[in-house]
Amino acid sequence: MLRNVRLCVVCAVAAALLFLLFAPAPSARAADKPVSFINDVAPILKENCFACHDAKKRSGKYDMTTIEKMLAGGSDGEPIVVGKPDESEFHTLIVTKDERRMPPRDKGEAVPKEKAEIIRRWIAEGAKFDAGLDRKADLVKELRVRWTPPTPPEKYKFASIVNALAFTPDGQSLVVGGHHELLVWSIADAKLTKRIATRAERAYGMAFLPDGKLAVAGGRPGQEGDVRIYDLAAKPKSTKDGVAYLDGVADKAVMLKQLLDADDSVLCLTLSKDGKTLAAGGCDRAVRVWDLSAGLDKVKLEQTVENHADWVLGIAISADGKYLLTAGRDKTAKVWDLKAKESVLTFPDHQNIVYGIAVKPDLSVGYSVGADRQLRTWKPTGEGKQIKATAGHGDEVFKVVAHPSQPLLLTASADKSVRSWDMDKLSNLKTFQGLDDFVYALAISPDGKQVAGGSYDGEIRVWTVADGALVKGFNASPGIASKAAAAPAKK
Ligand code: HEC
Repeated sequence: MLRNVRLCVVCAVAAALLFLLFAPAPSARAADKPVSFINDVAPILKENCFACHDAKKRSGKYDMTTIEKMLAGGSDGEPIVVGKPDESEFHTLIVTKDERRMPPRDKGEAVPKEKAEIIRRWIAEGAKFDAGLDRKADLVKELRVRWTPPTPPEKYKFASIVNALAFTPDGQSLVVGGHHELLVWSIADAKLTKRIATRAERAYGMAFLPDGKLAVAGGRPGQEGDVRIYDLAAKPKSTKDGVAYLDGVADKAVMLKQLLDADDSVLCLTLSKDGKTLAAGGCDRAVRVWDLSAGLDKVKLEQTVENHADWVLGIAISADGKYLLTAGRDKTAKVWDLKAKESVLTFPDHQNIVYGIAVKPDLSVGYSVGADRQLRTWKPTGEGKQIKATAGHGDEVFKVVAHPSQPLLLTASADKSVRSWDMDKLSNLKTFQGLDDFVYALAISPDGKQVAGGSYDGEIRVWTVADGALVKGFNASPGIASKAAAAPAKK
C-alpha cells in the first residue's frame, strides 16, 4: 500500500514537473477554426473513454478506438447524429444531468465542460474527419504518431528522477536517463559530455550490446513505451561548451533501430551474458525476447512471454541463456524456460511487489527483492521454495544485481543506500552511502570495480565495490547543483 501511495506521489511530482517545463502556450486555435477530430477530439476520447470502450473491454458492446467502430456504436446503435449534438448519445451522455452518464457516475469524473464543448462543436460542425485519416486505423496509434517529443531544456528547472544508469564499455563514463534524453557523464571530472535527445520521456533500462551500441527501454507513462538501439558514438548535431548534442529522435545514424512500440512504458531490460539475447518487460505485462545473434539488421522477436498478471518490474537471464527470470507488481518472481517456452516456477513469498531479480551464475540460486524490504533466495529450477530471507535494508528494495565476476550481489533501496552482499551467506558486506533519496538505479562497471547508484533527486554516486569509498558524486540533471558539492566526500 505504502508503495502505491509513493507511486502516486511520484506521478504527481512528475506531472507537475512536466507541466512546468513544457506547459503549452495558450491554445492558438481560434474559436472560429473548425474542430479537428484527431487533434482536438481524439485526445479527449483517449483520456476519458478508451479505458472502457476499447477492443478489449467494449463496455456496452462499444469499441471506439477506430473511426469506423466509433460511428457504428454499441448495443444502442449509431451514437452520432451528424450536425445534431443534442440527438447524439455521444454528446448527450457526457453532459447529461441524468443518472446514466458517461463516464458512469460511480466510475469517474465528468468530462470537463470545455472538453465536452469541443465534442459538441465537432458534431455540430458535421462530425468531420481530418483528411488522410484511415477509418480503420487504431486511434491510439494515430495519436502517438502525431505526438512529437519536446526538446530538452538546456537547464532543467527540476531534477529528473534517475530510473536507469549504465557504465560505458570503457568504464570511464555513465549514461543516465534524463528527461526526454540520455545524458553521458564523465566520471573522473563529473562533467556532462553528451546529450542524446530521445522520443521516450524516461529511460527505465539500459544495456550496452557487444558492438558498443546501447539498448534502451523506456516510455512516456500511460502513453507509449519503446525499446530502441542507439549509437552514442555517432556524429553530433552540434557541440556547445564541450557538450555534444545528438538527435536520437530523428537522426537515423543515432537512433539505429526501434525494436518495440508499446502502448505504455517498458520498465526493465536485460542482455544475456553472451550478448545474443535481449529481453524487456513492462506495463503491458509482457516480456519480449529478441535474438540478436545475426546482428542488428536481422534482429528477430523470438517470443512474447505473458506470465505475469501485472507490470513486469525486474528482469534477468541466466548465464547459460536458458532461463528468463522476472519480478512483478503481481507480488511474484517467476522463472521461464526460454527453450521449452514454458513457466518453470512462481516464487510467491514476498507477498508484496517484487521489484528486482537476479540469478547466481551457476543457476543454483535465484535472488529477489521487493516492497517487503527483504532479499530472498530460492532455487530457480525447483518448486519455488524459499531458501533464505534477509532483512538489512530499512525500506523497500528496488534493484538487485549480480556482480559480473565476484560472488557478490548489489542492491538499491528506498532507504537511500546501496549495499553489497555475500552471494552465499547473504551477509551484508558494505553499505554505500552518500545518496539522500530513494535509490532507483544501480549499475556495476564492466571491470566490476565500481558501482553507481542514481536516485529520485537526480543525484549520482560512484563508489569502489571493494571498500565502499566514494569515487565521485554529481547531479545528472543539467543545471541542477549537486548535493555532493555542498557536503564534500569523506575519504
Ligand atoms: C468506466 C467505464 C466507462 C467509461 C470511462 C466510459 N464509458 Fe461509455 N459505457 C460504459 C458502459 C458500462 C456502458 C454500457 C451501459 C450503458 O449504456 O449505460 C457504456 C455505454 C456507452 C454508450 C452507449 C453505447 C451503446 O450503443 O449502448 C456510449 C455512446 C458511451 N458509453 C460513450 C462514452 C463516451 C463518449 C465516453 C467518454 C467520454 C465513455 N462512454 C466513457 C462504460 C464507460
